[in-house]
Amino acid sequence: MALDDVPILFFLAHSWVVTLWPNTSIEKLLNKIAEGDAYDLFGLLPSESVDLIITSPPYWGHRDYDLKHNWKLFNEISSVKKIGTKTPGYQWYRSQGGILGLEPYPEWYVTHLTEIFRRAVPCLKPGGSLWINIGDTYFARWSSIRNNGRQGFADRERKRRKTPMGGFRAEKQLLLVPSRFAIAMQDDKWILRNDLIWHKPNALPLPESDRLNLAHEHFFHFVKKPKYGRARYYYDTTPLESRQTDVVSIFVEPGEDGHTATFPKLLIKPRILSCSPPGGVVLDPFCGTGRALEVALESGRRALGFELQSKFIEPAGQRLHK
Ligand SMILES: C[S@@+](CC[C@H](N)C(=O)[O-])C[C@H]1O[C@@H](n2cnc3c(N)ncnc32)[C@H](O)[C@@H]1O
Repeated sequence: MALDDVPILFFLAHSWVVTLWPNTSIEKLLNKIAEGDAYDLFGLLPSESVDLIITSPPYWGHRDYDLKHNWKLFNEISSVKKIGTKTPGYQWYRSQGGILGLEPYPEWYVTHLTEIFRRAVPCLKPGGSLWINIGDTYFARWSSIRNNGRQGFADRERKRRKTPMGGFRAEKQLLLVPSRFAIAMQDDKWILRNDLIWHKPNALPLPESDRLNLAHEHFFHFVKKPKYGRARYYYDTTPLESRQTDVVSIFVEPGEDGHTATFPKLLIKPRILSCSPPGGVVLDPFCGTGRALEVALESGRRALGFELQSKFIEPAGQRLHK
């Protein structure tokens, strides 16, 4: 039986528990959170049913979200070097116990993330948009990984990820992971419309004495490349920030429900209002606390989320159903 034939969309929590088959009508999925890997769940959505995908996937080399990862295999430098910087693919990687964001090479991560978003193409409407928020990482052969914590703080429990050096992978290097990812997406036929810089005025100072503090992240706006002609997609400029520039200064907000990587509402609301029509369907495939879904509902849109870590689903679902 092919993977796409299996009903693997399970909605947790009381009033919204449901098992779905591929191509179940979008109405049955709305205002719910599906537990599972975005890679699989994208493939089960009805085609051309989503107006806007807005999300922030795990960044490379930051956190494990308490998900189980095969540290033993992927910290074994000699076996990883034998495979090389070209990944056998996300399906293979996760079959070996790997989780997104903890790939031994940043090159693997970029390929895996691009593969996952390729699976989103069929469910996105031709006039739809894909907004992806992603942050960068400095290279270190041994780097600290925490469940929820931030790099550079030594007071929390941490694991160590090993990465082989070579090429641009040199100690202290700012890896430009977001740019590498954006280019990989362009090569995968997405049209990049904006590289919005999210400046974080309250970014925590890190204990570094030889470089500036990293206080911004990227928020990429992609649309589908049409077979012919120029891309046409829904876009309303009225709800945008007054200056309509590609730099916004927005304070990082404290996390919720044990999750520290929560979207600030001010960052996503203008994106939701400008890139989905009233009543449109908004999907966050890495939804965490469900913040994007909450803002979508408050904004008169309909919403749907995916999340792999089951402990985040119940509180996010409860907030949505308030
Ligand atoms: C950066 S956080 C998203 C936070 C979210 N923007 C919010 O406002 O709460 C990424 C989330 O993706 C989840 N995740 C990790 N791998 C996943 C996968 N393969 N499929 C779906 N969710 C995944 C993590 O558990 C985490 O909650």
